[in-house]
Amino acid sequence: MTFDRRPENMERITTPELAEQFIRESVDSLRAQIGGDKVLLALSGGVDSSVVAALLIRAIGERLVCVHVNHGLLRKGEPEQVIEVFRNQMKANLIYVDATDRFLDKLAGVTDPEEKRKIIGGEFIEVFAEEARKLDGIKFLAQGTIWPDILESERGIKAHHNAGGLPDDMKFELVEPVKILFKDEVREVGRALGLPDGMVYRQPFPGPGLGVRCPGAITRDRLEAVRESDAILREEFAKNGLEGKVWQYFTVVPDFRSTGIKDGERSFEWPVIIRAVNTRDAMTASVEDVPFPLLCRLADRITHEVRGVNRVLFDVTPKPTATIEWE
Ligand code: XMP
Repeated sequence: MTFDRRPENMERITTPELAEQFIRESVDSLRAQIGGDKVLLALSGGVDSSVVAALLIRAIGERLVCVHVNHGLLRKGEPEQVIEVFRNQMKANLIYVDATDRFLDKLAGVTDPEEKRKIIGGEFIEVFAEEARKLDGIKFLAQGTIWPDILESERGIKAHHNAGGLPDDMKFELVEPVKILFKDEVREVGRALGLPDGMVYRQPFPGPGLGVRCPGAITRDRLEAVRESDAILREEFAKNGLEGKVWQYFTVVPDFRSTGIKDGERSFEWPVIIRAVNTRDAMTASVEDVPFPLLCRLADRITHEVRGVNRVLFDVTPKPTATIEWE
C-alpha cells in the first residue's frame, strides 16, 4: 500500500517491531511501484538518503544506482564510511565521484556566503546530472523527502526540492519511500535496516558542508584546518559522553590570523572557534555548558595537531542573537 500523505491515525514508529512492519510494507509497495526498472539516488550519507538507499537495496538490490558526490566539503571519514557501509557491507551499486577539485576550483576566491552556496548547489546538480546521463534505462529518481519537508513546503516555509533541480530534459518519476515519516521514525527504520549508529544518529550537517564553516574565500589549507579540528572535537565529545547529548557541535576557522608562540618562535596563524549548541527546532538554540577541563584539552590538541592554528575560542552566544552556523 502506498500513501501520499501520512494517515491521521498512523502509529508513531518507536520500536524495532513497528520499524520492521514499516519496512515489510514499504518493500512490497516499492516493488509494486518500480517493477523491473532502475532507480537513481543521490546518496549524501545523511540520515534520510542513507535510509532510502537501505530500503531500496532491500527492495530491488542492484537495480538501485547510488551516486555519492564528494564535493570536498564533507567531514573527515564521511566518504569512506559511505563506501564501506553501502558498497562493501550492503553490496550496493554505488558510483563514487570525487569532485573535490572541481568544486574547490570553482569556489576559489569567492567570499560571499550566498554565492558560495549557489556554486556548491549548482555544481552538485551538474555533477549528478553528468553521472545520470552516463546511465541507461533509469526510470525513477529516489529522494529522501520526509513528512516535515512536505508540511513546511505546504506552509510556504521552504521549497520542496522536487527532483533536486535537475535539468528539464531529465525526466524521472519520483520514489519517496520515507515521505510519511518523521525524523525520529526514519532513524528507527534505519536502525532496523542495519545502518550503523554513527550514520543513523548523525548530527545535522548543512548541504554546503564545511564550506559554511570556512567563512570568506575557501582555501585548501584552511578547509583542512576545519576538517581536522572538527574530527578532534567529535572524537573528544564521543570520549567524554557528549556525543548524542549535544544537538550540534562543530568548528569554524575564520579568515584572519593573530600572533602566537610555537616552539619558542613567533607564529602568525588562525584561531579555531568551537560551537556546541542544543535546540529543538534550530529556530532558537542555547549553548552547551562544556566542562572547562574538556575545553582546555581541546585547545591543547587542536593547537598541537592542526596545522596553521595557534588559538582556540569557545562561542558562548545563544541563538538569537547569533545563528548556529557562522556565516
Ligand atoms: P542557522 O545557522 O540558520 O542554522 O542558525 C540552523 C540549522 O540549519 C542548518 N543549516 C543548513 N542546513 N543547508 C542545510 O542543509 C544549509 O545551507 C544550512 N545552513 C544552516 C545548521 O547547521 C543548523 O542546524
